[in-house]
Amino acid sequence: MRNLPKIYIVFLFVFLSFGSGYGVQPFWPDTVVTMTNLIENQEKSGPPLTVHCKSKQDDLGSHVVPFKQEYHFKFQTNLWKTTLFFCTFQWDKQLKQFDIFDALRDQDVCYLCNWTIKADGACRLGKKQKCFPWK
Ligand SMILES: *[C@@H]1O[C@H](CO)[C@@H](O)[C@H](O)[C@H]1NC(C)=O
Repeated sequence: MRNLPKIYIVFLFVFLSFGSGYGVQPFWPDTVVTMTNLIENQEKSGPPLTVHCKSKQDDLGSHVVPFKQEYHFKFQTNLWKTTLFFCTFQWDKQLKQFDIFDALRDQDVCYLCNWTIKADGACRLGKKQKCFPWK
């Protein structure tokens, strides 16, 4: 009986390790990243934004997002904070890149991560609102 807690810890660790991909874990919620196109140009309405996000493992494909509309995707983070999704953003003749989810930067800040995409960069909304200029 004295060994029981240790076994539980090992079990939990194994469960988290194997579950941290795309498994269903009620206590390890999905992270949802949402991006809203708020790019304004000289003309009356904002241009459509083409978003293409990838991680090392996944290519989420190219999506055209009209002005003031949103695009989102979800995934599960892991304990080691190695999750990284990077995106390209294209409109008019512009092509920008941004790490839309960097676990080291974002994992402790949000799991429903909402971003606005503007001509000069991306802003993460919420209590710890922060804007990042394009690199
Ligand atoms: C992001 O948007 C969702 C859905 O509208 C909302 O529930 C959530 O609280 C928002 N998160 C932040 C950090 O603002």
